[in-house]
Amino acid sequence: MKKIEIQMTVNGDIFELAVSPTDRLIDTLRQDLGLTGTKEGCGEGECGACTINIDGKAVLACLMLTVQADGATILTIEGLQKGRKLHVLQESFISESAVQCGYCTPGMIMASHALLKQHPQPDEDLVRQGLANNLCRCTGYERPVKAVLAAVDNYKERADD
Ligand code: FES
Ligand code: FES
Repeated sequence: MKKIEIQMTVNGDIFELAVSPTDRLIDTLRQDLGLTGTKEGCGEGECGACTINIDGKAVLACLMLTVQADGATILTIEGLQKGRKLHVLQESFISESAVQCGYCTPGMIMASHALLKQHPQPDEDLVRQGLANNLCRCTGYERPVKAVLAAVDNYKERADD
């Protein structure tokens, strides 16, 4: 199959890639770019494990073709950390014990990141709505919700994140 040349910015770095028209974005991120923090659960848009941010919005990488990301600005869980400093959401998920097996965590955090970009001061209902598409088999959702709410004040202080 003829390859298509695309360019995308991922975590601040520009990548020029030749991809197949049928390549999924999740595979390009994980296999071609080595960004395995983005997880695949269902592969069909149901679990949220593959959530990344594109142009500031939460997107399911398993449902998107890589060619559709031509020209996009993508943020994955690897791009949140600044050097050795974790993002405030990452810190909150740890301090609130919102991580158990951790498989859903990158997707949860990226969904939360997009939510806080749009709604810097969400109430609990809004946080629950923001995480509604992210399934977790371990935590029962209470702790992730608490973690996002705990991050809100710090997030405001670090609006550049
Ligand atoms: S792996 Fe994408 S939604 Fe489940
Ligand atoms: S922490 Fe295990 S699936 Fe969410």
